[in-house]
Amino acid sequence: MRHFLANQMQPKPNKKLRKLIMGLEEKIPVEDGRFVKGIYFDNAATTPPFKSVLKAIEQFAPWYSSVGRGKGYKSERTAEYIERTRLNILNFVGGKEDSHTVIFTKNSTESMNLLSHILQQITDKRYVLVSEMEHISNNLPWRERFEVEYIAVNQDGQIQLEDLKDKLIKLRGQIGLVSITGASNVTGCVNPIYEAAELTHRYGGKLHVDAAQLIPHESIEMMRPNLAENIDFLSFTGHKLYAPFGTAVLIGGKDEFQDAEPLLKGGGTAQIALKSFVQWNEAPERFEGGTPNVMGIVALQAAIRTLQQINMETIKENEKQLMNYAINRLHAINGLSLFSASNHNLPQVSVLSFTIEGLHHQDIAQFLAKEAGISVRSGFFCAYPYVQKLLLLSDERLDEIRKDPGIPSPGLVRISLSFYNTSDEVDRLIMALQQITSNKEFYTNKYAEVPKGICGGR
Ligand code: ALA
Repeated sequence: MRHFLANQMQPKPNKKLRKLIMGLEEKIPVEDGRFVKGIYFDNAATTPPFKSVLKAIEQFAPWYSSVGRGKGYKSERTAEYIERTRLNILNFVGGKEDSHTVIFTKNSTESMNLLSHILQQITDKRYVLVSEMEHISNNLPWRERFEVEYIAVNQDGQIQLEDLKDKLIKLRGQIGLVSITGASNVTGCVNPIYEAAELTHRYGGKLHVDAAQLIPHESIEMMRPNLAENIDFLSFTGHKLYAPFGTAVLIGGKDEFQDAEPLLKGGGTAQIALKSFVQWNEAPERFEGGTPNVMGIVALQAAIRTLQQINMETIKENEKQLMNYAINRLHAINGLSLFSASNHNLPQVSVLSFTIEGLHHQDIAQFLAKEAGISVRSGFFCAYPYVQKLLLLSDERLDEIRKDPGIPSPGLVRISLSFYNTSDEVDRLIMALQQITSNKEFYTNKYAEVPKGICGGR
C-alpha cells in the first residue's frame, strides 16, 4: 500500500481528558514478573468506562425503581429519566422528537437483528445492500430474511459509491434497505454516509448506518440541511462509547416502527393480551420486551453528556493528531504494512491494522499482551470479506485454510486508539514492535504452541 506521510508532531497527553477515564493507571503483570501500566489499544472492541458513568449510576441508584408498572414516586422518576434519555440521544445524533423513535436494545447486534425483523414486516422488497466492509453483525441479520447484495470496496478498502449506484439502478424498486457502517473496524476508513444517503434516496431506497465505530470519534447528523442526505436508521452501542452496562439503540422514523410486531414479545410490549387477542403497545415500548436495563440507560445518558462536554470536535482533533503520530512511527518498523485509510489520505477514525512480514498476527498480539502489557486485537475482526479482500485471499485459498487446521490463518493486527491514549503509549508500542521484529524467529518459536486456526474469532 502507498504511504501518506502525516504530520510528525508529538501530541502532548491531555491529563484532564485522561482523568475522565476509569482504570488508566492500573498495573498489569507481564511475563518477566514485572507489573507495568497497561496500555489499551483495543478501543474499537470496547472502551473503558467514563468515571462520570459510574458516578451517575451511583447517584441514580437510590432512585432506581420499577419502570412503567408502578405508580410510586421513584417509578415515575425512573420512567421520566428513560424518556429524557431518549431525547438526549436524539439531540446527540441530530434527530427530532416529533419524527424519530429511539428503541433501547442491548447491543448493536440486537439493534440490527431487530431492524431486520421490523423491515421484513413493513416491506415486500427482497434485497438488502451491505458493503463488503461490514462487520458480520451488519450482514448476518439480513441474510435470513432478505437476499444480500454487496456494495464493492476497492483494493484500498474504500466503499465504491459508483457500485452502490449501479446496484440501486439494477435493483430499483426491490431494495428494502442499504445498510453500511459509518467507519471500518479494520482500517478506520470513514464512509461517505451522507453521500450514500443521497444516492440511496435518489433511487427510492432507505439507509441504515451502523454507527458503532463512528460515533465514538465524531458527531453524526441524522437530519441534514439537505433532507436528501438524512439517515433513515441509525444504531450504536454504549459499550464502545465509554458506557458499559449493556445498552445500545436503534433509531428510526416514527412511521417505520408502528406496523411491525415485536421481536421479543412479553412484558411491556402489549397494552392488553387476552387469550385470543393482543393489542401491541406503541413503539418504542413494543420493541423493548421485559424490564428495561435502566442502569445501562443511565450509563449511556452520562456518557453522552460527558462526550458533549468534552466536545466531539476536540475528540476528533486529539485522535487525529495521535493517529498521525502513530502512523509515522509505524512506518519505521521493518517489514510492516499498514492497512489504513491514511495510506490514501482519506477520512479515518483512530483505527488501523497492520501485518509484519515474517511474523504471524497472533504471535504479535500475544507478544504485545504478554510481554509489553499492550492490548490489541488480531485476526479478521468479524469483517471476513473485507480482510479477505485486503489480504488478496481467494475463496479457494480461504477454504483450504479453513479446512486444514495445520495452515496458520492469515489475519491482521489492529490498534484502535482513543482520545485518552498518549504518544508515550505509542512509543511503547513501537519499542515492543522493534523488539519482536529484531528477533522474528525467536518469537515465532516461542509462541509456536498457540493455535493459529481461522475460526473462533469474535
Ligand atoms: N466489533 C468489535 C471489534 O471490531 C467487537 O472489535
